[in-house]
Parts: sequence; C-alpha cells; structure tokens
Amino acid sequence: MTRFSPTTIISGGSRGLGLAIASRLLERGDRIATFSRSGSAALLDLASRHPGRVHHEHLDAADSAAVRRFVANTVEAFGRVDHCVANAAVAAEGVLATMADADIDAMLSVNLRGAIVLVRECVRQFLAQPRTLPDAAAGSVVVVSSVVAARGSPGLAVYAATKAGLEGFARCLAREVGTRGIRVNAVAPGFLSTELSATLSDADRERIVRRTPLGRLGATGDIVGAIDFLTSPGAAFVTGQTLTVDGGGAA
Ligand SMILES: NC(=O)c1ccc[n+]([C@@H]2O[C@H](COP(=O)([O-])OP(=O)(O)OC[C@H]3O[C@@H](n4cnc5c(N)ncnc54)[C@H](OP(=O)(O)O)[C@@H]3O)[C@@H](O)[C@H]2O)c1
Repeated sequence: MTRFSPTTIISGGSRGLGLAIASRLLERGDRIATFSRSGSAALLDLASRHPGRVHHEHLDAADSAAVRRFVANTVEAFGRVDHCVANAAVAAEGVLATMADADIDAMLSVNLRGAIVLVRECVRQFLAQPRTLPDAAAGSVVVVSSVVAARGSPGLAVYAATKAGLEGFARCLAREVGTRGIRVNAVAPGFLSTELSATLSDADRERIVRRTPLGRLGATGDIVGAIDFLTSPGAAFVTGQTLTVDGGGAA
C-alpha cells in the first residue's frame, strides 16, 4: 500500500524558518509548495534532493491575486492541500514616531493581509476536497507569530501588531471552522538566529540569552518540531492555541 503523502503549503520557504520547516516536512513524507519573492540555492538543493515533491513560485505575499493563483497551481501540481503554514513575514524595526508609511504598509500587507489571504485560499480548498488525512481531518493551519505579540519590545510595535492580529485571527478561525474538521493554531517563537533578526545588537542578544531559562537563543530547528506536531494526527484535538517556543521566556 502506498503511504499517504500530505501536501503542505509553507509561505517564505526560501530561507530561515520556512526552509527549515520545508526540510523537516519533506523528511516526514510531505509534498511541499512554497513561495517567496526570490529563490535560494538552499531551496533549489532541497528540491533536487526530493524530486517531484517541491513546488516553488516567485511571488509577493502582498499580491492577493498571485497568492490565489499559487494555491490553485499547488492543487494542479499535487491534487490537494492538507496543511498551511503562514510563515512569510517582514520586520522593519524602528520607533513608531519616525516610522515611514511604506514600512507600516509592508508589514501589514505581508504579515497580516498576505497570511489571511493565503489561509482563506487554503481553507476554501480544505472544504472543497475529499478528506483523506489519516485522522479524517479536512486540514490544518499554523500561523507563525512571535513572542513580541504577547510580550512587547521597543521598536517592534507595528510588527507586534501584525503578529497579535494573526493570533486573534487564528483563535477566531479555529472556532469558525472546527466543526468542518479544520484545526487552526499559532506558534510564537522567541528570537531566532535568521536574517530577520540580523539587526539585533550584540548587547540585545546577550540580554535575551541571560534572561532565557534554557540559556541560549533559539534556532530554526527548535521551532520546526512544534510545526511538525501541530500539522500531525498527534495534534488532532488541538486547535485555537498559541504554542510559545522560546526557551522559557525572555522577559
Ligand atoms: N527570526 C526571528 O527572530 C523570529 C522570531 C519570532 C518569529 N519569527 C517569525 O518567523 C517567521 C520566519 O522568520 P525568519 O526569521 O525565517 O525570516 P527570514 O529569514 O527573513 O525569511 C523570511 C521568508 O519569507 C519570505 N518573504 C518575506 N517577505 C515576503 C513577501 N513579501 N512575499 C513573499 N515571501 C516573502 C522570504 O523570502 P523573500 O525575501 O525572497 O521574499 C523568506 O523566504 C516569520 O513569520 C517571523 O515573523 C522570527
């Protein structure tokens, strides 16, 4: 008997956390569809190691029509969509008083509207297709938030607003689609060593490590386990939750 191979959409799979999630879920047998504005050698390498199981498109998450086409193209390529991980985000750091409209718009349109549109397209597909997941679920959604949504951090007010918005979105949607067999959760990582956090000063890095009970900054590998779990039958009774993965909490 051939093993069921779920199709998982991950936005922003070219590097950082998205790439790490893609790699882990390919190892567990998923087919992966992902998009980003640019490609990367690492993603090409991953695709070459898993022939026929990676679909990648170049597009901007702020372009709703392109996101809609991407989900349709994924269904054309793989026949269905089983899980959706809304991961792509941008972070423009700076105090609110001097922040440009363009930076505010970019964060709202990519982190919040882009994620919402992607999830809407996936939910439509979950509702339209026959249920074939091992736990008879129609599909699952994970939105990638950040600890700053709940904890706050100077210079990240607008970014935090997008992440807090996503968490509220996930909680409400979980109630809306639960009876249709769709689970919706959020994962809130602490600071990770990726391009997104490259602007973190050495002093800030040291302060976070000092205040983290597990005594180090997180790595992408620390977060993928949570995503793997939330998109697995093991999480069949988990919905509407935010799972914080931050080494115990840097205050
Ligand atoms: N790094 C951290 O410390 C940290 C902490 C907490 C939460 N997070 C969250 O974790 C997630 C992943 O972050 P990361 O650190 O892996 O970031 P990253 O290294 O900057 O990667 C972001 C990914 O999203 C894509 N992306 C960004 N803007 C896009 C757009 N407009 N359209 C399409 N794709 C776009 C990027 O590709 P292109 O640039 O080529 O488009 C890239 O693939 C984000 O939701 C972030 O908020 C990160």
